[in-house]
Amino acid sequence: MKMTEISIPHSERHSSLETRRAIAADIPRLVSLINTTYAIETFLEGNRTDENRLATIMQKGSILVAEDASGQLLACVYFEVRPPDLDGDRPRGYLGQLAVDPAHQGSGLARRIVAAAEDRLRLLGCHAVDMIVLSLRPELPPIYRRFGYIETGTQEFSPVRALKPGYECHGIVMSKSL
Ligand SMILES: CC(C)(COP(=O)(O)OP(=O)(O)OC[C@H]1O[C@@H](n2cnc3c(N)ncnc32)[C@H](O)[C@@H]1OP(=O)(O)O)[C@@H](O)C(=O)NCCC(=O)NCCS
Repeated sequence: MKMTEISIPHSERHSSLETRRAIAADIPRLVSLINTTYAIETFLEGNRTDENRLATIMQKGSILVAEDASGQLLACVYFEVRPPDLDGDRPRGYLGQLAVDPAHQGSGLARRIVAAAEDRLRLLGCHAVDMIVLSLRPELPPIYRRFGYIETGTQEFSPVRALKPGYECHGIVMSKSL
């Protein structure tokens, strides 16, 4: 008899998903997750991160991780509270290094971990949140628009990794009110 595939809604596929702040012991697994997922950015030299760089940013902000019931690391996102802009009196949040294990992409994990990071930023007093998307990743803005972000500006490409010869790139700022 032919088995019929049952479609499970995004929100139920990872119902036992736990999110928590990463600790130093998570760094090796985080480096592996982030570098594996960002290998898609073939227009950049080198790896997205390493243990030293992660340890440094974890002193400035935090990394939220999502794990399944067995403790497998499925996704992460970096979040940081930044000072208010000139006309604001409340801080803004920043999100970066969003990464979902390739085997689990397309199942709603990014939506859930981004929402969890936004909740934390809201509790920390942020009234808005920004992220930067590289112009060489045109598939990303439509995804973030679905999470409520809109394009609010552009900025020069400030490389963590150098661009390979022949490429041009700038940052697209995407923002959301919290
Ligand atoms: C980008 C990335 C984080 C998305 O993670 P994901 O878990 O697959 O995303 P989700 O399953 O939560 O889906 C995101 C939403 O975008 C939608 N979406 C996916 N592809 C889309 C496309 N091409 N156009 C429009 N919407 C799209 C999905 O339907 C979903 O919307 P919904 O929740 O309203 O149905 C993941 O692919 C990844 O880790 N990529 C490599 C690292 C990376 O590029 N990070 C971001 C750098 S800024």
